[in-house]
Amino acid sequence: MIENTWDAALYDARHNFVTVAGQALIDLLDPQPGERILDLGCGTGHHVRQLADRGAHAAGIDGAADMIAAARQAYPDLDFRVADGAAFTVEAPVDAVFSNAALHWMTQPERVIERVAAALRPGGRFVAEMGGKGNINSIATAAREAIHELLHVDVTHQWYFPSIGEYAPLLERHGFEVRMAWHFDRPTPLEGEEGMLNWFKMFGGGLFPGVPEGVIPEAIRLAERRLRDTLYANGRWVADYRRLRFVAVKRV
Ligand code: BEZ
Repeated sequence: MIENTWDAALYDARHNFVTVAGQALIDLLDPQPGERILDLGCGTGHHVRQLADRGAHAAGIDGAADMIAAARQAYPDLDFRVADGAAFTVEAPVDAVFSNAALHWMTQPERVIERVAAALRPGGRFVAEMGGKGNINSIATAAREAIHELLHVDVTHQWYFPSIGEYAPLLERHGFEVRMAWHFDRPTPLEGEEGMLNWFKMFGGGLFPGVPEGVIPEAIRLAERRLRDTLYANGRWVADYRRLRFVAVKRV
C-alpha cells in the first residue's frame, strides 16, 4: 500500500467529491436490509453510514489509522477497523464488499482480490470503483516534468490504475465472474482557486516518491503552473480523473 500522510479534516473539507461520487456506486451495489457489507478502504466512514442507513450491517476497514480515528469519532455506533487491504480477514463471510476510490492505493492487487474473495460468501458481490488506466495523466505528467526540471531525475507515480483488460483477468483468476465493467472519464472539479494546490497537499505524496522534502513545494508550484493551461478554466480547476468501475460475483 502507498504511504500517505492523511489529513482526515482536509480530506472531508476539500475532497468530499469522493463521497458524493460514491453514492452512484452504492446504488449500483443495491444494498438490502440485513446484508453484511464491508467497505474496503472506508476513509472517514461516510459510505458505511449510508449503507447502515439503508439497513445493511455495514463495517469499514482502512489502512490509515487517522482515517479510522475520524470515522469512529463521526460514527461511534458503527464498526471500523484499521486493516491492510492485502491481508485482512473477516469473522464471518459477508454478502458484499464495496470499495470506492481506494483500490488504486493498494499496490498488490492480486493479494487484495484474494482477500476479498475469501471474505465473501459464494454468490457474494464485489462492487468497486477506482482510478482506471490514464487516471490523473495530466497531473502526473506535470509533476514528473517539474521534478525532471528541478532534479534531472525521472519519478513515476505509485498508484495502481489498471484497464479493464488488466483487472478483469485478476478477478476471474480468483473465482469471480465479472458481470459489468466500465472505464470512463470523470472530470472532477476541485474547490476554489487553491484547488490544485490542495489536491497536491492531500495526495501529492504518491507523485514524488524519493524526492527530498525541501524540493516538493517548488515542484508543486511548477506543476501547478504547467497545469493551468489544460486543467484550469473559467475560474476553476478540474482534475482529469478516469474511473474503472465493476461488478463481480464470487462463483458459487
Ligand atoms: C483518485 O481517486 O483517482 C485519486 C485520488 C488521489 C490520488 C490519486 C488518485
